[in-house]
Amino acid sequence: MTYSTHARTTSTTHWQRFAVPFEFPVVFTEGVFDPENPALRDVLARLEPAKRHRCVFFVDDGLGEGLLAQIRAYAERHADALELACAPVAVPGGEKIKTELHFVESMQQKLFDLRLDRHSYVVAVGGGAVLDAVGLVAATTHRGVRHVRIPTTVLAQNDSGVGVKNGVNLQGVKNFVGTFAPPFAVLNDLQFVLSLPERDKVAGMAEAVKVALIRDAEFFGWIERHMDDLATFQREAMAYMIRRCAELHLRQIGQGGDPFETGSARPLDYGHWSAHKLESLTRHHVRHGEAVAIGMALDARYSVLAGLLAAGEEERICALLEYLGFQLWHPVLERAGANGEWAILEGLKDFQEHLGGELTVTLLAGIGTGVEVHEIDVERMRGAMHWLKARAAG
Ligand SMILES: NC(=O)c1ccc[n+]([C@@H]2O[C@H](COP(=O)([O-])OP(=O)(O)OC[C@H]3O[C@@H](n4cnc5c(N)ncnc54)[C@H](O)[C@@H]3O)[C@@H](O)[C@H]2O)c1
Ligand SMILES: [Zn+2]
Repeated sequence: MTYSTHARTTSTTHWQRFAVPFEFPVVFTEGVFDPENPALRDVLARLEPAKRHRCVFFVDDGLGEGLLAQIRAYAERHADALELACAPVAVPGGEKIKTELHFVESMQQKLFDLRLDRHSYVVAVGGGAVLDAVGLVAATTHRGVRHVRIPTTVLAQNDSGVGVKNGVNLQGVKNFVGTFAPPFAVLNDLQFVLSLPERDKVAGMAEAVKVALIRDAEFFGWIERHMDDLATFQREAMAYMIRRCAELHLRQIGQGGDPFETGSARPLDYGHWSAHKLESLTRHHVRHGEAVAIGMALDARYSVLAGLLAAGEEERICALLEYLGFQLWHPVLERAGANGEWAILEGLKDFQEHLGGELTVTLLAGIGTGVEVHEIDVERMRGAMHWLKARAAG
């Protein structure tokens, strides 16, 4: 058989194109494992009400042993709809579960041993770290098992748990291995956050300030007016803060046009380029929210120096963050990196590398108005750092 030159240089392209709609409920409830609360049962049974659903629960060990028994009691009470494939499994809480693939593999092994199928459920109960690791397990086992999230920290309820991302760290790089995978359902139970240590209650509020600053001036005003209630963790104020913050995150993901972040921007990551670096420089001794508070203060001052934000607004933002309980300086900010430059500034490169494409950093053009820029003047950023340090020194 012979081929003509013409045949060899001519290609035919078929365009495959389809869209997959995603939808999942985000339920706000209290006492999710109270046997009389049908919320969890209802979300598990929503597609096949007559079926008994197999579930595996992975539970953050920071929540204590008692919760495992509560989950068992809940499953017994709803045994017509829910079958535990095994006793609820406690997993390491906090960043530890994300530092090694070992934990992901052992959870996958568990699902293999239990012969869990794609119509079964992997339920994650815990902070953002546990949700990220279990979410990755659910997304990759059988190429995707139904995943239900029950976030138990402020940050996980108002931000990470209602999103579509999961992941674990590799070689010290945050979220290097992960997927975009919308959950089957999310249940936010206020009681979990009310029992959190104060430090974590405070930390999660950073994301509410963040989303208010870049999207919603009215919400920022609400936070300012309720800062006393928030600083003392009053129930109603905490509930509204979490709910409004979650709504704004849901809106961005659902209507922002780029739910799987294929572009160069991470529109909700105001204050995050330095925050991620600060977290890794301190080996996660600084919580994500604590780092974000510092990052927001830094970028607010930079926004002023760049002529984008009215002078004085950065002070208003810092004062609010401090009132809520954040410290706006950390000595590691001054640590020198490999080239003698401040290590924190490497965060800009890391931020760009994670996404690819052009550097895109969100700054402030006003309270409630985020603006994307593609260049950061290092000299000006140093100026912002000096300002923050001097301010902290009083
Ligand atoms: N996927 C995303 O879109 C996304 C977004 C932001 C952050 N994150 C990730 O979330 C993680 C941080 O999550 P986090 O701030 O929720 O903290 P965390 O998950 O690290 O938990 C902090 C500590 O609180 C404990 N804990 C959890 N719930 C508790 C409760 N109700 N009572 C007492 N202790 C409790 C945990 O055991 C842990 O020791 C980071 O790994 C970050 O990268 C992910
Ligand atoms: Zn964040």
